[in-house]
Amino acid sequence: MVMASRRSLALGLLFGLLSCYASVVPSVASSDGFLQCLSAAMPKQLLYTKGSPSFTSVLASSIRNAKFSTPGTVRPLFIVTPTNASHVQAAVVCGRRHDVRVRVRSGGHDYEGLSYRSERREAFAVVDLANLRSVRVDREAATAWVDSGATLGELFYAISQASKQLAFPAGLCPTIGVGGHLSGGGFGMLLRKYGLAADNVLDATLVDANGELVDKQVMGPDVFWAIRGGGGGGSFGIVLSWKVKLVPVPPTVTLFTVLKSADEGAVRMLTRWQQVAPALPEDIFITVRLHKQVARFQSMYLGTCDALLPLMGSRFPELGVNRTHCKEMTWIQSVPYIYLGPTAAVEDILNRTTSSTPYSKATSDYVRQAIAEDVWAEIFARFAKPEDGLMIMDPYGAKMSSLPETATPFPHRGGVLYNIQYMNFWSAATDGSAQTRWLRDMYAFMEPHVSKNPRGAYVNYRDLDLGQNVVVGNVTSYQAGRVWGEKYYGGNFQRLAMTKAIADPTDYFRNEQSIPPFSE
Ligand SMILES: Cc1cc2nc3c(=O)[nH]c(=O)nc-3n(C[C@H](O)[C@H](O)[C@H](O)COP(=O)(O)OP(=O)(O)OC[C@H]3O[C@@H](n4cnc5c(N)ncnc54)[C@H](O)[C@@H]3O)c2cc1C
Ligand SMILES: *[C@@H]1O[C@H](CO)[C@@H](O)[C@H](O)[C@H]1NC(C)=O
Ligand SMILES: *[C@@H]1O[C@H](CO)[C@@H](O)[C@H](O)[C@H]1NC(C)=O
Ligand SMILES: *[C@@H]1O[C@H](CO)[C@@H](O)[C@H](O)[C@H]1NC(C)=O
Ligand SMILES: *[C@@H]1O[C@H](CO)[C@@H](O)[C@H](O)[C@H]1NC(C)=O
Repeated sequence: MVMASRRSLALGLLFGLLSCYASVVPSVASSDGFLQCLSAAMPKQLLYTKGSPSFTSVLASSIRNAKFSTPGTVRPLFIVTPTNASHVQAAVVCGRRHDVRVRVRSGGHDYEGLSYRSERREAFAVVDLANLRSVRVDREAATAWVDSGATLGELFYAISQASKQLAFPAGLCPTIGVGGHLSGGGFGMLLRKYGLAADNVLDATLVDANGELVDKQVMGPDVFWAIRGGGGGGSFGIVLSWKVKLVPVPPTVTLFTVLKSADEGAVRMLTRWQQVAPALPEDIFITVRLHKQVARFQSMYLGTCDALLPLMGSRFPELGVNRTHCKEMTWIQSVPYIYLGPTAAVEDILNRTTSSTPYSKATSDYVRQAIAEDVWAEIFARFAKPEDGLMIMDPYGAKMSSLPETATPFPHRGGVLYNIQYMNFWSAATDGSAQTRWLRDMYAFMEPHVSKNPRGAYVNYRDLDLGQNVVVGNVTSYQAGRVWGEKYYGGNFQRLAMTKAIADPTDYFRNEQSIPPFSE
């Protein structure tokens, strides 16, 4: 029902827009033309130009990396804040007509800020979906339609209001936007049992390169495959809404956190963890964070402490988990507990404002063969100085190994032991060069120990050091794109590029790491 009414709305609006073009004088500078075209299609108060008093605050509203709030950052000419689908369609149609590219922003968490800034000097507009954020849960069917502008916290909260037995497998940080997260995969504590957020998408509505609003049926199997993890930052269009499969969770989940310093055997335990964690039953997820030479093992178990303890005793006794470590709670309570701390309330996951926005740099790896203990000792030694960063390791296996590499564009499946995220933070007090150097040195040091040919990386931990698009003629080069694209997508990169060549042959949806149209 929802689709049917939206479709007819879409058609109606598209028709309206066509008449709007006819009235646009071709000699008007492209950006003025864009503004005029859009003003005819949506309320003016939803359009911000650089001269608008609130332009800066609207732009800053979801910036999560202070590196891209600096004066040198290439900003959009316009920000469009649609309140319905027809406004998004108008942005694409007017943008194509007047040579203004659009970048779409949902939650703004992109590590390289590609949803709201450009590396190159170019005229672009941001379509900010923050106003399009409804969540409609169907408890009987165990599904939900969630708009891209919703945060993960808003999605999780709405699910818990509808049912205490349902959940959704996605990332940990509640302010992440659904739009970008599902476009790149998306994982958190439920990864081993239920896979990626993108693996649990059943349908979607997309504004395509022609400005048309399409669902799974109309976009066809290739585009529907591509947007579930191969979005590459809006390469195929703007996803407005996702139908997701909700997953069952027990009434009680159990969390534990164990800290081990190097003196307490952290090196040996991490070496062991690499073999143990990816091979455990699907109900348990043990992630490790390495910072300042302390390994922090944090776990969520889908069950009670009584059931967890014998499992840990038999599979990972070295960690020394006992009853005093267990924190039993509901799944929804675990969301604020894990990310915001033990005193946070469930309602806090609805807060879209974060207390601080640091400067940051990150990158990622995949490990397929356990790293030797002496190498771990060397890795630990790289965490001694104050400017040294952190390393987060998330185990795969279970459901992740059961899906083929081609199931979605995300290729890191069977054979992967774990994902590594390297990260470093700093404040305005420094220029970040020492922190960035630490990260790049760490990445260089790890090369012999991680996946190869290609060296895998996770697109949601975006890193422009891995490579950037090169424009040849009027489109981004497929050959140049392979450098970064095969790291993120492996053998799926070619199918993504072939899909792009059909869905967006003129390469309208383009950025530093968008999918290039395939060419020989
Ligand atoms: C603090 C923090 C914690 C994180 N934790 C996790 C985690 O636990 N697990 C995990 O998997 N990842 C995690 N991430 C990474 C996160 O999943 C990605 O940054 C994700 O892309 C963010 O989505 P967004 O909508 O907030 O970002 P945006 O910056 O809005 O978008 C990211 C990219 O997707 C594109 N895009 C956005 N919306 C749409 C849309 N509707 N249609 C098409 N393209 C779109 C944008 O153009 C951009 O290229 C974390 C990031 C941060 C900053
Ligand atoms: C969407 O916005 C347009 C123009 O701003 C308006 O005409 C239309 O009625 C709106 N549609 C819905 C469903 O709100
Ligand atoms: C549980 O583990 C903690 C920390 O390792 C330890 O201090 C405590 O003695 C243990 N308790 C029991 C009952 O074994
Ligand atoms: C949301 O979080 C911010 C930052 O921590 C805080 O200042 C603000 O009071 C919070 N808002 C609500 C409604 O809790
Ligand atoms: C690029 O686009 C322009 C104008 O749209 C066209 O004239 C030109 O032939 C195109 N170039 C290539 C290499 O496709």
